[in-house]
Amino acid sequence: VEIAARLRELLGPDAVLTEADVIAPYLTDYRGNYRGAAAAVVQPDQTASVSKLLAWCNEHRIPVVPHGGNTSYCGGATPSEDGKSIVLSLHKLNRIRQVDSANFAIVAEAGCTLATVQTAATEAARFFPLSLGSEGSCQIGGNLATNAGGTAVLRYGMMRDLTLGIEAVLADGAVYSQLAPLRKDNTGYDLKNLLIGSEGTLGVITAACLRLFPAPRHIATAWLALPSPAAAIALLALLREASADRLSSCELVPRVALELVCTHISQAREPQLAPSPWYALVELSDSHSDAIQGTLTNALATAMQQGLVTDVVIAQSVAQRDNLWLIRESVPEAQRRAGASLKHDLAVPVARIPELLARGTALAEQLVPEGFVIAYGHVGDGNLHFNVNQRQDADAEEFKACEAPLKRVLHDLVAELQGSFSAEHGIGQLKLGELERYASAAKLQAMRQIKQALDPNGILNPGKVLR
Ligand code: MLT
Ligand code: ZN
Repeated sequence: VEIAARLRELLGPDAVLTEADVIAPYLTDYRGNYRGAAAAVVQPDQTASVSKLLAWCNEHRIPVVPHGGNTSYCGGATPSEDGKSIVLSLHKLNRIRQVDSANFAIVAEAGCTLATVQTAATEAARFFPLSLGSEGSCQIGGNLATNAGGTAVLRYGMMRDLTLGIEAVLADGAVYSQLAPLRKDNTGYDLKNLLIGSEGTLGVITAACLRLFPAPRHIATAWLALPSPAAAIALLALLREASADRLSSCELVPRVALELVCTHISQAREPQLAPSPWYALVELSDSHSDAIQGTLTNALATAMQQGLVTDVVIAQSVAQRDNLWLIRESVPEAQRRAGASLKHDLAVPVARIPELLARGTALAEQLVPEGFVIAYGHVGDGNLHFNVNQRQDADAEEFKACEAPLKRVLHDLVAELQGSFSAEHGIGQLKLGELERYASAAKLQAMRQIKQALDPNGILNPGKVLR
């Protein structure tokens, strides 16, 4: 009670929430894996207020848990159970400060949803390429804090690649601000890239200057049937070469995922193709030439001759394209509706995807007879969401008991394949132990020293990324 009263004095009465039913949504994660408690939720609308808050919390050693759109898969924005933390919601810091067409840049505050940034760019005849299923609710601050990926990384990179500058509040309340649209800035340590991906453990990002691109005026999208994951890898190379690298997305979807989407997502329409064990959604785009459609058609004809593709649907309208993307982006939701699942966000060098799938599937089938594998995702980036869903008639306890042993063998496998156990979802509180297990001693020591230097009192999102 005393903390809330002090916060109201500091930030104003409207910025502080304490009623149990109002703050409840801030205390649990999207997947329902974690439930925490907090002394208050604060919702400042100015960077200066975030600065005041952190200075005060640092002085009084009060933990602060930054909170964006709450779409983390790793419990990154959920406070601990002891009730001593303050949740810092950034949703009222939601202005687009500037759209700078000449410099191909946009300055957005942390609480803007990703969709808001995409729309602001489009209205200025520019394009912001980060694209995720949760783009209507995830926030730019969270995208930055987790270095989000998504479905256009193949061509445009992850959030880190899309960021020119940031404004952030450090643990003691100091404001670091570099929001100029600079392509080049080799002036010492790169604080921007240190804070991006740090999941709120080194500072709170309050705004960012993001890269924009020429709007893609011509888009060619296809849904393909493929005989195998190896065919997908060969197809990826063929499409990149044939299109002069204008391939923006290459997503792999197994038959079982398509079936789940068609069962659980009523708006989705199954593409009219012969049934196949694997499908791919591919998209080429060009800001200038409409030849892109022909490029795709010719490349797919070659792919069919080579046996890489067995059937093809090319979107003939925006509605058809939207349906193909709806199918792909609904896989996680369809899977959620189908029941419990064990999730793994795996990356390997692209050419090792077939080996990851073959060996990973064999391991999962052996260890989890109560489940079935749904491995799908960003094959063009070497990143698959290797998930195992509970069979309908299976015992929930037995299924859950498989979680730890399955995680171990899959993460050992990606380590052997020189991959990553967290490609784009981060560490949060879910994967602390995995980081300790798989990161080198040199990396962990450097990470701990950086944390100690930037947050000596350990107030910033404690218990996330590092113990
Ligand atoms: C996706 O690509 O759909 C999400 O990152 C992941 C998931 O649900 O596993
Ligand atoms: Zn993904």
